[in-house]
Amino acid sequence: MKKNIIITGSTGNLGKVSISKFLSEGYRVHALVSKKIGTEISDDLITYEADLTNENSAHEIISGIIREFHTIDAALLLVGGYASGTIANTGSELLKRMISLNFETAYHVAQPVFNQMTTQPEGGRIIFVGSRPALVASDGKNSLAYALSKSLIFKLAEILNAEGKSTNVVSSVIVPSTIDTPENRKAMPNANFSDWVTMDEIVDSIAFLISAKASALRDPVLKLYGKA
Ligand SMILES: NC(=O)c1ccc[n+]([C@@H]2O[C@H](COP(=O)([O-])OP(=O)(O)OC[C@H]3O[C@@H](n4cnc5c(N)ncnc54)[C@H](OP(=O)(O)O)[C@@H]3O)[C@@H](O)[C@H]2O)c1
Repeated sequence: MKKNIIITGSTGNLGKVSISKFLSEGYRVHALVSKKIGTEISDDLITYEADLTNENSAHEIISGIIREFHTIDAALLLVGGYASGTIANTGSELLKRMISLNFETAYHVAQPVFNQMTTQPEGGRIIFVGSRPALVASDGKNSLAYALSKSLIFKLAEILNAEGKSTNVVSSVIVPSTIDTPENRKAMPNANFSDWVTMDEIVDSIAFLISAKASALRDPVLKLYGKA
């Protein structure tokens, strides 16, 4: 039977590469997108449109997937975005925007997905995306709201792992440094691109985390910094 994987942020850099990878690994991919990009593409790739800052929209989509497909084996919660700003110029509006984009979009999907996975005999795997500024204060001082919003992801994963231990639901956090994306190359033209972690490297690590080979891992936090 096909395994079901949910991928949010699936029109983004990491999302597109993840879709190809997990289709090639034989998954049925449920791709959540922020804007309509057409109808169902194939039996194995189904798209759903939702603004994931909206809890009801997220829950409706996840309930629909569960009703029709019964099992969610894995979920990659990739939606997120960056904003710079120090303590001097970070006010409540930016703070709320970053928390909504980087934390609530993950939480709104993780909550129903986690609840479903704890009822499944095989459990399930949830992948969150953190970031280095949330772990290393000196990196976070110039992106304060971003760092704070991503730091919630690590605590959420820890709490879900405490809750999911007896039901084999494991939440992992991957922590990329700068990813080698077209946007980052444009924004930092003088950087040494070969120091950056590639999307393929990240997606290969995700594939490992959700595979049977990683079944002994508990509370995984994977730092994918490349040479940066
Ligand atoms: N790029 C880096 O160097 C880097 C470094 C560390 C961590 N990360 C993290 O890695 C993850 C993926 O990065 P990426 O470069 O692939 O990002 P990306 O290309 O900017 O993609 C983000 C995706 O999220 C979607 N999205 C944004 N707001 C949404 C909303 N309210 N509801 C539903 N979907 C929404 C976007 O759709 P639309 O475009 O249609 O809005 C897009 O598909 C993010 O969590 C990011 O914070 C990135």
